[in-house]
Amino acid sequence: MAKTIGAATWAGLHREAVAAMGRAYVPYSRYPVGAAALVDDGRVVTGCNVENAAYGVALCAECGLVSELVNSGGGRLVAFACVNAHGDAISPCGRCRQLLMEHGGPDLQLAMPGGTMTMQEVLPGAFGTGDLDQVRDDIQEDM
Ligand code: THU
Repeated sequence: MAKTIGAATWAGLHREAVAAMGRAYVPYSRYPVGAAALVDDGRVVTGCNVENAAYGVALCAECGLVSELVNSGGGRLVAFACVNAHGDAISPCGRCRQLLMEHGGPDLQLAMPGGTMTMQEVLPGAFGTGDLDQVRDDIQEDM
């Protein structure tokens, strides 16, 4: 069952996401993004997008956030917000939904442009570790 996230927590995540957005490195798109998430132990992790002259290797804000999550002790993401230069909520790209699913699971709550949604709603039918385990188990049985 998804945990209820209070208005003050969402406001704090929004504030942190806006601050992270201000640190984005976006000389190519000029579209800064900031992301912030609450971890199940109470930590808040953040990220901003970091672009590159080789456009295709740009890192989304969510990549930085997940890297900070793992490098600061791991844990599970429980609430997530990301914003554009106006401070408006934006929808995580497809690749980043996959990243967030790995570290938050289906109950992770996201502040989406139209309101709060769960990871299950934004990435239904996701590929995950269970798919890998299934094949590994089958291979073990064959050997
Ligand atoms: N971007 C993110 O940081 N996260 C998303 O979920 C969507 C897109 C960034 C990538 C690029 O630096 C800029 O926004 C424009 O696409």
